[in-house]
Amino acid sequence: MRKKLVVGNWKMHGSHSHNAALLAGIVAGRPFGCDVAVCVPFPYLGEVAVAWAGSELRWGAQDCSAHEQGAYTGEVSAAMLADFGCRYAIVGHSERRAMHGESDQLVADKAKAALARGITPIVCVGETLGQREQGTAQATVKRQLSAVIHALGHCVGEMVVAYEPVWAIGTGVTATPEQAQEMHALIRAQLRAATAHAAAMTLLYGGSMKPENAPALLAQQDIDGGLIGGAALKAADFIAICRAAG
Ligand code: 13P
Repeated sequence: MRKKLVVGNWKMHGSHSHNAALLAGIVAGRPFGCDVAVCVPFPYLGEVAVAWAGSELRWGAQDCSAHEQGAYTGEVSAAMLADFGCRYAIVGHSERRAMHGESDQLVADKAKAALARGITPIVCVGETLGQREQGTAQATVKRQLSAVIHALGHCVGEMVVAYEPVWAIGTGVTATPEQAQEMHALIRAQLRAATAHAAAMTLLYGGSMKPENAPALLAQQDIDGGLIGGAALKAADFIAICRAAG
């Protein structure tokens, strides 16, 4: 039985005062019967690390450089994330693929760089609405995942995969539990062909997950948790989703 994982992706939201209240609110909502993490903007990693030190709650970043160190202005390395106690780094979020031109290969390199420093990459995959309408959703996800599988080699089983259909992100439109499960099953089958650990791997769903729709999504066989955007910014909503996963 896989333990569920709920991860809040704060995206580019937050302030010292908002963060303090949100982090304390989540602490007050414990215990959760699942693993819980937040992936926060880089400048706020230090305050999460202080606020949640010594607790079972986890934190991470929303990106990670593919490079180890050097003249890469604006980049943040996996070693730096490890310095701040990060457990996770989201890589390949569709917003970065679309707005920063991140290729499948770059995403794979970032996942590899994170793992090399003991940070679990949360690798995001997902099709656009156009790709779904053209019938290429499965091929798109397969291609995105293939690049990471190839780059990680025998470490494939150590990543977390998040299926985030682009058309469901921030739109209020959620994939139906059946649509999400169908893609998750395909993802797990692809992983099974690459690693003996596929059955134990954590596959998250992301895209307008909310307290109302979380129970049905999380009840699906291959959905092991959520990657939560908007609903992760309100303690009550995030806690409700964590409880649904517990
Ligand atoms: P929303 O939950 O706001 O749709 O965002 C999902 C997401 O992109 C999480 O990474």
